[in-house]
Amino acid sequence: MPRSLCRISDLSADEVHEVFDLCARMKKKEIAPRPLEGKSVACVFTKESLRTRVSFEVGIAELGGHPVYITDREIKLGERESVADAARVLSRYVGMIMIRTFKQSDVEELARYASVPIVNGLTDLVHPCQILGDYFTALEHLPPSDRFKVAYVGDGNNVANSWLNLASIIPLDFRVGTAADTQPDPEIVARANANPESRILITDDPVEAVADADVVYTDVWASMGQKHLAEEKAAKLSKYQVNGSLMKAAAPNAIVMHCLPAERGREITDDVMDGPQSVVFDEAENRLHIQKAIMAFLLSH
Ligand code: CP
Ligand code: NVA
Repeated sequence: MPRSLCRISDLSADEVHEVFDLCARMKKKEIAPRPLEGKSVACVFTKESLRTRVSFEVGIAELGGHPVYITDREIKLGERESVADAARVLSRYVGMIMIRTFKQSDVEELARYASVPIVNGLTDLVHPCQILGDYFTALEHLPPSDRFKVAYVGDGNNVANSWLNLASIIPLDFRVGTAADTQPDPEIVARANANPESRILITDDPVEAVADADVVYTDVWASMGQKHLAEEKAAKLSKYQVNGSLMKAAAPNAIVMHCLPAERGREITDDVMDGPQSVVFDEAENRLHIQKAIMAFLLSH
């Protein structure tokens, strides 16, 4: 059975550090492995993307491989044929499958039936490559710590869930500031709470979430597939905007992160996003390096 990354908790803590180590060495150009030489990778997108699509395609080429971009217009996953049959067929052509889609269960079913590694490039539930890249970015920018204080403020979505998945395997002081009905996934929260080395706080008070934090993180209030709910969500989440006033509660050298794309003026203000504490474009760059490391890791295990 090949190794896949459907969610961060598919990796152990040691394996996460192995991926970070590979990422750092590739980014510094100390190593340039080409484990995809002579292979193709299917990049399946049933949602839009800038960062994930381009960083995967470039990363696959840099690992020696050939990306094949496929949208749901062609394959109609689970509709034209079963997810299991699509997994079996794609495995005959390509050495790896990267997929961005709605249902987490489709990604897990692909992983069950494919004979090649699957990489989750975002579902409604999680966004593992993003948060592995983000934690790597935090390691680059913050002084070493046994347990970073990370405050996620805004919608309890796929990005918040992946931070919680990370907290279930490595020590994190992770706070979520969000409204009563925009909470992260309760099962994922329970698994994070089960890690005795992590501290998890879910609060409706954005200042309590951000207090003395090393990282202040936000994401859009209405994710892909929910854009019709944008005004409703904005009404619920307006007090969770990351702005200059909220940043006063964080540690003085805190960094500001956002997975992007941002809706400037909604979940984050221009002065914060463009200010000296923002590392949002380093985060975007690190998607390339971390995904190369994830692919190299999966192909070698
Ligand atoms: N952060 C991120 O995944 O961006 P895209 O949706 O543009 O891929
Ligand atoms: N939560 C956002 C992340 C985009 C990278 C979404 O799912 O649209």
